[in-house]
Amino acid sequence: MAPTLLILLWATGILQVDLLPDKKLVLLPPVNFTIEVAGLSQALLRWEPNPDQEGRNVKLGYHVKISAPQEEDYETRSTESKRVTILHKGFSASVQTILWTDPSLPASSWVSADLEAPAGSPGTSVVNLTCTTNTAANNYTHLRPYQVSLHCTWLVGKEAPEDTQYFLYYRYGSQTEECQEYSKDTLKRNIACWFPRTFINSKGRDSLAVYVNGSSKHAVIKPFDQLFALHAIDRVNPPVNITAQIEGTSLSIQWEKPVSAFPMHCFDYEVKIYNTRKGYVQTEKMTTNAFTSIIDDISKYSIQVRAAVRSVCRAMGLWSEWSQPIYVEDSKVE
Ligand SMILES: *[C@@H]1O[C@H](CO)[C@@H](O)[C@H](O)[C@H]1NC(C)=O
Ligand SMILES: *[C@@H]1O[C@H](CO)[C@@H](O)[C@H](O)[C@H]1NC(C)=O
Ligand SMILES: *[C@@H]1O[C@H](CO)[C@@H](O)[C@H](O)[C@H]1NC(C)=O
Ligand SMILES: *[C@@H]1O[C@H](CO)[C@@H](O)[C@H](O)[C@H]1NC(C)=O
Ligand SMILES: *[C@@H]1O[C@H](CO)[C@@H](O)[C@H](O)[C@H]1NC(C)=O
Repeated sequence: MAPTLLILLWATGILQVDLLPDKKLVLLPPVNFTIEVAGLSQALLRWEPNPDQEGRNVKLGYHVKISAPQEEDYETRSTESKRVTILHKGFSASVQTILWTDPSLPASSWVSADLEAPAGSPGTSVVNLTCTTNTAANNYTHLRPYQVSLHCTWLVGKEAPEDTQYFLYYRYGSQTEECQEYSKDTLKRNIACWFPRTFINSKGRDSLAVYVNGSSKHAVIKPFDQLFALHAIDRVNPPVNITAQIEGTSLSIQWEKPVSAFPMHCFDYEVKIYNTRKGYVQTEKMTTNAFTSIIDDISKYSIQVRAAVRSVCRAMGLWSEWSQPIYVEDSKVE
């Protein structure tokens, strides 16, 4: 008891000695606040401490308030800050100086800056942009055993002239790439893109930024950008090497995890057993790679398995497609 009390008293003493002389301190707003585009769907905010600020050894901090495209409010000691957010609607933020060690001291006034929304005629940007990723084994190098492909589709803006051409780019982390393989509509306008290989790390936590701009002789085409969470757009592969045997009254089924950068313990499975004679379906959910069912019926069974990444490894996403059915028959049928 006694030592704790002493430490507390001592700490209070230090605080008072530290803060009292600063009570009259007036905080001045930061200067040279700028916002620039640091990459696709990425803004870089920068400012400098006010050169006229008094109090040499006080710990200054900054309160940043983002008002568009989405409200966000945070404090930092740094004089720069990178935000990942869509930029096609513009971006506005304000910053004020605070005393890091004493939030009760009145903060400075605000300084504001913004990025204007990119120019373009209304209704010319792409709409209904959707993207999916898929993982394949990388047959060319052992350094990166898996490669992630990206497929995006969109609709032409209602007001986009017939000669509009769209161009798609993605950014993942610090890597940006332009689409090389487009699909076209009857007017030869790009409406889908396929990247067989990307820099996307399927186990990463960054979001994927996709940007589509365009050109036309008759209108300025408004660019569009969208952020995608990887778990929400990943098309997990179905499990592989599914085998099944019937011995007596047990039907045992085994399989291997899908082609994926995620290890074995990261998957949930669902097994679907279809009794073709009775037209009866049994569906079981499990976390192991094998399942045994008791059967009391002489029949032919069709078996399919599907997989999803478990929430312990990543936010819950979608189930894979069902695997191709395999068939197993009770030998007593013959
Ligand atoms: C603010 O920007 C001006 C003009 O670029 C520059 O001269 C000045 O040194 C900057 N102030 C600070 C505190 O960095
Ligand atoms: C495109 O998106 C809009 C709004 O989200 C929706 O109402 C419309 O049905 C979609 N169009 C198509 C063809 O998917
Ligand atoms: C790797 O090889 C397998 C089997 O030949 C093939 O199915 C798969 O498409 C190949 N993957 C890539 C990315 O080329
Ligand atoms: C589209 O954006 C890319 C990347 O920012 C840029 O290099 C290109 O010039 C733009 N194209 C058009 C038609 O605006
Ligand atoms: C699937 O089975 C084949 C042949 O037995 C084997 O070569 C392959 O490694 C297996 N695949 C997996 C993912 O275990």
